[in-house]
Amino acid sequence: MDFKLNLDPDKTQADMYENINYQDFWMGVERQHLDKLEQVLIQQMLKLPARRLVDIGCGFGRLSKIYMNNCQEVVMVDSSLSQLLQAREITGGRCTYIASNATRLPFQPGSFDRALMIRVFHHIPKEAEKNSLNELERILCQNGQLLFTYSNKRNLERIVKWLFGKLPYNPFELSTAAIWEPFSMHHPRYISQALSERGFCNLDLRGSGVMDKIAGRLGKFGNLIPLGVQLAPFFGRSALAPWIFVGCKKKTGTIPAVELAKEFLQCPVCAGGLATSYECPTCNRVFPILDGVIDFRTD
Ligand SMILES: C[S@@+](CC[C@H](N)C(=O)[O-])C[C@H]1O[C@@H](n2cnc3c(N)ncnc32)[C@H](O)[C@@H]1O
Ligand SMILES: [Zn+2]
Repeated sequence: MDFKLNLDPDKTQADMYENINYQDFWMGVERQHLDKLEQVLIQQMLKLPARRLVDIGCGFGRLSKIYMNNCQEVVMVDSSLSQLLQAREITGGRCTYIASNATRLPFQPGSFDRALMIRVFHHIPKEAEKNSLNELERILCQNGQLLFTYSNKRNLERIVKWLFGKLPYNPFELSTAAIWEPFSMHHPRYISQALSERGFCNLDLRGSGVMDKIAGRLGKFGNLIPLGVQLAPFFGRSALAPWIFVGCKKKTGTIPAVELAKEFLQCPVCAGGLATSYECPTCNRVFPILDGVIDFRTD
């Protein structure tokens, strides 16, 4: 079956994965090769065990086997209800499932010691990307780890295309580029500056999206091509790969991981605490539970 995003012009970018079969995206030699590499990179980069991990834009839970048995608590977040229902099935209902936009998360400051956001940042509209970075910083505790990916606007292929006049933007400009509306590309320096402004340090960088393309061209022999685990740090630091994985630590903050609050939800509208129910005592908004998913979407 073909993978197709839900590009209804009346819907927002956050709805693109609603009622589509995202699992189909990962079929075929090239994508399976990429999936294997990404799983290894995340295993290497994500510091486990952890107290409480949030997987933002978790999709159907592709990455859940990496962290499920190494965290005391896992919270899965996505803007798509149908993706979350699949994630709930895959993880056997052992997590907290939250429908929410990454730009306005229903969590109190310092609620997590790990935040994962893989293959999501490029779907955040340009005008909201600062909000989503602010949210990542806000919800992490002191020394909390963030691991996320972005689509690299100045990767080698794009630089070559630009030199031949075949790219509609300059890959060396810091600004976010979007050739196709629901897909933004970021400059490596823009990302490192944005992270450092928000108190993130110790950047650990890896690159993906190179070896899988070679594997894809070789058809059934593609499985003979190495995943590129050893090359990934070079592709990350040189920022020549199409996808960059960034691991970093939040050095600011006052709440250490050992003191994470038991009750960590808050109203995404007024930021009031939600200790005992999913009805906000401050603004009276009620957040429904749909098949085990708490729906905090507000747009
Ligand atoms: C490409 S998929 C990646 C899924 C998963 N992280 C993975 O790597 O397999 C992007 C996911 O992000 C979700 N998403 C897109 N925009 C979002 C937003 N603004 N807030 C929360 N989730 C979002 C989509 O619904 C989709 O499930
Ligand atoms: Zn409220």
